[in-house]
Amino acid sequence: MLANRVTKTLSGLSAAAMLCLAALFASTAVADQVTDAIAERIAPVGSLCKSGDDCAAAPVAAAPAGPRSGEDIYNASCTTCHAIGVSGAPRFGNADDWAPRIAQGMDTLFDHAWNGLNAMPAKGLCMDCSEDDIKAAIQHMVDASQ
Ligand code: HEC
Repeated sequence: MLANRVTKTLSGLSAAAMLCLAALFASTAVADQVTDAIAERIAPVGSLCKSGDDCAAAPVAAAPAGPRSGEDIYNASCTTCHAIGVSGAPRFGNADDWAPRIAQGMDTLFDHAWNGLNAMPAKGLCMDCSEDDIKAAIQHMVDASQ
């Protein structure tokens, strides 16, 4: 009789223990959610996008919005030096400065602009310029300077 009651009490206890455990697990799940929410809120603003991530598909390389004209490129990259002739740069619109340059031929002008020549930096520092961009910028200067 007594043993029976003890067993009943014990099984009652273990049921209670089970309930406690269940509650514990439930509260762990809630805690996880809270932790996730906090992590989301305190996440660094500029989180790193690695190639292959979804976020990396965003228009990061949106810089060249359509084809740029030689004039656009000249204005953006070359005018700094070529407008007033910094370090002896042939001046925009100055036929005297440009005549001996033009006489070398377009291939040489391009080669010097692409690879650099003395104080003329490679690509005129337009690092995202393609060969065609540089050629167009040279053509723009040449056209305006003869
Ligand atoms: C930091 C100044 C600077 C910038 C920016 C610059 N240039 Fe020049 N550039 C020079 C100088 C200096 C020379 C003369 C180099 C020499 O003959 O010693 C020169 C020369 C040239 C020449 C003549 C090369 C030759 O063979 O005679 C071309 C063409 C040219 N630049 C194109 C460009 C283009 C195109 C850009 C822009 C995309 C550009 N440059 C941006 C300084 C610059």
